[in-house]
Amino acid sequence: MDKLIISKSKPLSGEIKVSGAKNSVLKILAATLLTDEECVIEDVPDLLDVRVMLDLLKSLGSDVRYYPEENRVVTKVVDSSITDASYELTNKMRASIVVMGPLLAKRKRANVSYPGGCAIGARPIDLHLKGFRALGVDVHLGHGFVEAKVNGNMKGNTVYLDFPSVGATENIMLAATLADGVTVIENAAQEPEISDLAMFLIKMGAKISGAGTSNIRITGVKKLRGVTHQVIPDRIEAGTYIIAVAMTKGRAKIDNVVPKHLSPLLSKLEEAGVKFKKDGNGIIVDAREGFTGVDVTTLPYPGFPTDLQSQFMVFLCLCKGSNTIKETIFENRFMFVSELARMGAKIKTDSSTAEVYEIPELEGAIVRATDLRAGAALVLAGLVASGETQVLDVYHIDRGFVDIEEKLNKLGANIKRIKG
Ligand code: UD1
Repeated sequence: MDKLIISKSKPLSGEIKVSGAKNSVLKILAATLLTDEECVIEDVPDLLDVRVMLDLLKSLGSDVRYYPEENRVVTKVVDSSITDASYELTNKMRASIVVMGPLLAKRKRANVSYPGGCAIGARPIDLHLKGFRALGVDVHLGHGFVEAKVNGNMKGNTVYLDFPSVGATENIMLAATLADGVTVIENAAQEPEISDLAMFLIKMGAKISGAGTSNIRITGVKKLRGVTHQVIPDRIEAGTYIIAVAMTKGRAKIDNVVPKHLSPLLSKLEEAGVKFKKDGNGIIVDAREGFTGVDVTTLPYPGFPTDLQSQFMVFLCLCKGSNTIKETIFENRFMFVSELARMGAKIKTDSSTAEVYEIPELEGAIVRATDLRAGAALVLAGLVASGETQVLDVYHIDRGFVDIEEKLNKLGANIKRIKG
């Protein structure tokens, strides 16, 4: 397996461009199953998770052409009789569960392996299934699979989500596009990736209002058409590089960002003394005058994203005194604290709170990426640690970051990939 060797970096400077959003493109690719016409998706990041989704679409009867050098995918359903998603593919990536909504809407049946637990928490799918049942779907769980079937079309209904789950909101929205009548999702998730998926569906001919708010209304239509769509920039990738520049007390431009999508992070960093200036489609981060510590609590959007929590924790290791992180979305997101401790971090955790204490300097060490975002956080730690840091199990990072070492090196970092 590949590993990254990171040397302490000087303050980062220069300019890099953010790729298309992983969490958007995966759902948009699943949505292409809703039409028999050709769809063209642009700004598709070349990531392991995207490759898994493309294989899944192929296994479900789509002709998929991928042009990674142009970041473009062209899909067209050629066999719409397949309703079983293979265990090998769905088990590799939890987001595969979003093929259920389109399969049920178009093919009236979906048989998908029940997603396993993962490093950051149990991550059940009860809210997805509650939504499908409310639309008239028969759902059976057994032998590690979810088998869902509907006679004829689904019937629109009001679905209240006990928690604003991103995946459940998307799956129910996808299913409802071709249902009879009106579906209302109450307490829906409001993440920008949901608005992007809704934009894609609306271009296809779906009738959706309220995406991006907590109340989404979908009026079912008979048919959806093929369209071309450009994916929004990845706010988590952008946020990770913004934190990297801040931590090294650098000044750099992060291009291809939507500042509004990043406002929870930017507000917190501004509170800590980091300066930002909008520049074209990008943002200039300036931390040359240093920063102080702040407390953060992760929350559903527009709260502080759980996917930036680990990276922010590394930033807080460099801040004066002690600062608190409260994690409210995933129960096991502090797993990587023990890896960070190997680099000299002083962090006290209980189940949902981490108290991060100031230390003079992080020390380079051999550490293991435990999940995607934690892996990126360890790379950031390597940028400010004395000596050399080795990050193992880099495949976790490759699931969600395009060329992380190339992009950081472009800003002046010194990171080498050793192929394993
Ligand atoms: C998505 C993102 C992930 C991000 C997360 C929260 C993708 C591919 N992944 O994951 O990067 O960290 O949103 O912003 O888009 N829950 C239930 N029952 C359910 C569904 C979820 O209890 O049926 C719980 C989960 O266990 C978790 C919380 O709700 O504690 C949030 O999960 P959810 O918003 O569904 O996250 P994902 O869609 O899996």
